Amino acid sequence: MCGIVGYCGPKRVLPVILEGLKRLEYRGYDSAGVVYLEDGKLVKHRSKGKLSNLEAIIDDAIITPSHIGLGHTRWATHGAPTTENAHPHSDCTGDIVVVHNGIIENYHSLREELKAKGHTFTSETDTEVLAHLIEDNLENDLVEAVKKAVALLDGSFAIGVLWAGMPDTLIAVRNQSPLVLGVSAASGTFLASDIPALLPYTNEVIFLNDMEMAVLTSESQDIFSLVDGKTIEKKIETIKWNAAMAEKAGYKHFMLKEIYEQPQAITNTVSGRINPETGEVNLPELNLSASDLENIDRIIFVACGTSLHSALVAKYWIEKYAHIPVEVDIASEFRYRHLLINERVLTVSLSQSGETADTLAGMRIAKGLGSKVITICNVVGSTMTREADGTIYTHAGPEIGVASTKAFTSQLAALFLLTLFLAEQRNTLSGEERLKLGKDLIDIAGVIEKEIPRLQEEIGTLIESYYDARDFLFIGRGLNFPIALEGALKLKEISYIHAEGYASGELKHGPIALIDKDMPVLALVPQDDVYQKSISNVEEIRARQGRIILIGTEGDAHLSNITEDVIYLPKVADVMNPILYTIPAQLLSYEIASRRGCDVDQPRNLAKSVTVE
Ligand code: F6R
Repeated sequence: MCGIVGYCGPKRVLPVILEGLKRLEYRGYDSAGVVYLEDGKLVKHRSKGKLSNLEAIIDDAIITPSHIGLGHTRWATHGAPTTENAHPHSDCTGDIVVVHNGIIENYHSLREELKAKGHTFTSETDTEVLAHLIEDNLENDLVEAVKKAVALLDGSFAIGVLWAGMPDTLIAVRNQSPLVLGVSAASGTFLASDIPALLPYTNEVIFLNDMEMAVLTSESQDIFSLVDGKTIEKKIETIKWNAAMAEKAGYKHFMLKEIYEQPQAITNTVSGRINPETGEVNLPELNLSASDLENIDRIIFVACGTSLHSALVAKYWIEKYAHIPVEVDIASEFRYRHLLINERVLTVSLSQSGETADTLAGMRIAKGLGSKVITICNVVGSTMTREADGTIYTHAGPEIGVASTKAFTSQLAALFLLTLFLAEQRNTLSGEERLKLGKDLIDIAGVIEKEIPRLQEEIGTLIESYYDARDFLFIGRGLNFPIALEGALKLKEISYIHAEGYASGELKHGPIALIDKDMPVLALVPQDDVYQKSISNVEEIRARQGRIILIGTEGDAHLSNITEDVIYLPKVADVMNPILYTIPAQLLSYEIASRRGCDVDQPRNLAKSVTVE
């Protein structure tokens, strides 16, 4: 969702910015632009569509000796994705430019006021008001003018500002939209919406907090609070990811690479946190004391999309093994509901990015009501990790494909660790049971690793009869119901096939009316404690001539009597089925989308990090 890149330093600016923007493509965008300073003048290039369109029009400019500039990828909110609406936006003189992520909620009234003062607008965006506001407040001190302009804004914003009158300085401000600085003695100062844009140049970063402003030159990063004006000494943090981790490494798509990376991501998430000899779980970053844990009488998970599905699995696990009631809430609903929350509730936010606006708002509300808040997150230093009382990091590495894969299964691994930890603290399982479950978790990565190549091959063939479907149903029971939801979400977002996930038992309460030969149904039917029930549901579909794909347990010969399209998976402990059964669901979506020629890594209309409501 919108990407900002800024640079000032000894390198030529355009290649740095374009490279950075490419590394933010995964966030989703529909137009792009750059600006740099050359011979005292700001030079701006913008284009709708992909970055390749922008590159095509700046082909000659790439040799500019300029060493300072800004770039932006825009995901349209106010105004269509046109060249005129693409950032950077300028003031009336053309000497001030801004790039912006987020939404300026009061832009309409500001725009009217500015127009009445004689300002001329050239776009429909909320962002352009900012350039004119800075112009309106500028005497000869850009810092003061930006401060005054920002004070007039309501909403969320991460912004970058460049003024021809201050040729060595970039200004950045963050409020409710992520922004990170990269610092390097040799290469200069960088500004970006997310870490992958910085990784080719540095892994030393500074995270900005809300209402902080940074004044950046090639050698300096002065940061101060917009609340009290005081200078802030920021810690420089070292990121362990490297640039290669955010590259495709020979795979056709990032999504496929990330599907293959899942065994490693799960192992990285689990290792060092569970003692294989005793089953004891160690989660020091959780920051919950024994009395905090004793006090909890309910857990609420708050999340969106795929992260919400992992929370639904955790509900089954935690209620069964740690005996704590669990609620799972869609963050965008949670934040506007009448919440019955107090200090006896533990709120857990789940987010791959740690920046999702609704989830973040939900966390803040729960905290305000006295709840302890922890977050399960994949991005070190993200806003959620900084605001939560405690964190469990998933160690999935950077996830670039917009459709979440390895971040999801790593969340499941982290949630199972949390389950075991709570069971240990609450004494709800014997040491032997915990040891066995811990071993099941440790072993699952190895099982997946062996299966992925075979599954990809089998599924690649199977989808030839399904890739042109218009609709799809995914069904599962118990622990696999959330995986049916996740399978359906994956398919619809990357292949644009309409897909729904249902609890198998719900089918006869409505959706079964849809079943006919044109409605493929994918059913998850492992030989678990609800196996017979799941098979009965599948029989109901067969009786209505539905086309069925079954994913079940190796050696279950009955499945091939029901349909010829069976994908077999090895028998693992039932509790690990959600992690294992996710893999064929992801591969099916991937293979279908790829066969249909879809833009798998950057599906239309979607953004990786949803930083607006
Ligand atoms: C779908 C997907 C989204 C995200 C959702 C929340 O593949 O990735 O549904 O799960 O936008 O994002 P995070 O996890 O970053 O809070």
